[in-house]
Amino acid sequence: MFALTTSDLESRILGCADGPASFNAEATRRGTRVISCDPLYRYSRREIRMQINVTYPQMLEQTRQNHQDFVWTEFANADEVGRVRMEAMEIFLGDYEVGLQEGRYIDAELPSLPFQSKSFDLALCANFLFLYSEQLNEVFHVQGILELLRVAKEVRIFPIMALGGVRSNHLIPVSKHLRNLGLNVTIEEVPYEFVRGSNAMMRVSGTCTV
Ligand SMILES: C[S@@+](CC[C@H](N)C(=O)[O-])C[C@H]1O[C@@H](n2cnc3c(N)ncnc32)[C@H](O)[C@@H]1O
Repeated sequence: MFALTTSDLESRILGCADGPASFNAEATRRGTRVISCDPLYRYSRREIRMQINVTYPQMLEQTRQNHQDFVWTEFANADEVGRVRMEAMEIFLGDYEVGLQEGRYIDAELPSLPFQSKSFDLALCANFLFLYSEQLNEVFHVQGILELLRVAKEVRIFPIMALGGVRSNHLIPVSKHLRNLGLNVTIEEVPYEFVRGSNAMMRVSGTCTV
């Protein structure tokens, strides 16, 4: 999703809106310094497991119904997607309580994060900004990205498409707004494509000059 290099994995990473993903657990295991933030982390492991149990069958059904919207190179079918996602969530749940104690899972949400300026080299945001373009307006996107850029030297966002595989209405105005502030904004193809046509991330870096 983020075209991460070995050198990226040696930097200090913030995973924003990481939810019940296994990135933090797996990256920590390989020695990467990563902190995840998400409002989900105000809940206990038991409560999160209950939420997963409710949403998992819905996710599976939606993937089955919209089979044609996905690229089936990495997974054979919806059941395999479900199995892999559940394995990832189990890795997350297995790491969650230790990670909370170690300060690797922080209950926090955009547009305001409890981190010092430039505490991270890289902020990653997967499946939140742009994806929920109907629910989150343009102002929220700009504020959220500026906040990520306050706490990190570089921000990467994936995907840049909204739910349903449609282009986000915010992509062009938000990019324009950020560029007008003097920031570097690029849209780059990445090696990952599961939702058909959704294989690009936004990279933002620089300092506001106005
Ligand atoms: C679709 S999930 C993505 C989880 C993970 N990044 C992944 O790709 O599997 C969206 C996540 O955004 C989180 N979220 C909702 N509002 C947020 C906010 N204002 N700031 C940060 N995260 C938020 C939700 O709790 C949820 O975990």
